Amino acid sequence: MSVGPTLVSLDAIHAEAAARLHMEGQPGTFLTRLGADVLTVLYRTLPSSTGGFGYAMVAHPQEVLGFVSATTQTGALFWEMGTRRLPALLPPLLRRFVRNPALALLALQTVTYPLLHPADPVPAAELLSIMVRSDLRGEGVGTLLLAALRAECQRRALAALDVTVAAANAGAQRFYQRHGFVCTQRFVLYGQPMYRYRAVFAP
Ligand SMILES: CC(C)(COP(=O)(O)OP(=O)(O)OC[C@H]1O[C@@H](n2cnc3c(N)ncnc32)[C@H](O)[C@@H]1OP(=O)(O)O)[C@@H](O)C(=O)NCCC(=O)NCCS
Repeated sequence: MSVGPTLVSLDAIHAEAAARLHMEGQPGTFLTRLGADVLTVLYRTLPSSTGGFGYAMVAHPQEVLGFVSATTQTGALFWEMGTRRLPALLPPLLRRFVRNPALALLALQTVTYPLLHPADPVPAAELLSIMVRSDLRGEGVGTLLLAALRAECQRRALAALDVTVAAANAGAQRFYQRHGFVCTQRFVLYGQPMYRYRAVFAP
């Protein structure tokens, strides 16, 4: 019996595939420059981290066609990576920093980035990443992933979903705008102009 693509909760077993999709979907960005090993630690940590959640569209348990990840506590995610996951995180991170010391400064910006966005008066989640395999884009997978994320946000009684997107990523901005996100802020991160978008949920 053949089973079609299925939407499942993002899990640590998807971490390596999610890291690969992230490398492919966001070439040249800071997180991608940290390498697949570091991203794998990120996606292994996220599903079990405080406030972390997401969805994957899978063909087989570990064949990931696309995924979306979010958290209500970005600071807790970095804390858990820097404590519980340190043995796995440190060796690849140090290798990258030795080869490219400028990346260490950018990493510091990543950790301080949540401070740029002081506590919100409304309970909100941060969409950290949404990636669809390049040969499957434009077929509605991203829309299904985002719909599942929004439903979970509403189930968690969150009032809004935020996302930071590079100003240069016109395709993703079109996608977010089409799904009701509105640009709320412009700023510079990693030396690149960034836009912050927000979708507000009806109470
Ligand atoms: C953005 C993304 C997740 C959308 O997923 P998707 O499955 O292609 O989205 P859907 O098929 O549900 O919707 C298609 C819409 O997405 C947008 N889109 C953005 N990039 C696209 C691409 N390369 N191909 C097709 N559509 C794209 C368009 O608005 C498109 O609608 P339109 O063609 O009518 O303008 C996907 O294109 C992707 O993985 N991009 C690379 C990674 C990325 O930039 N992620 C966002 C930053 S975290």
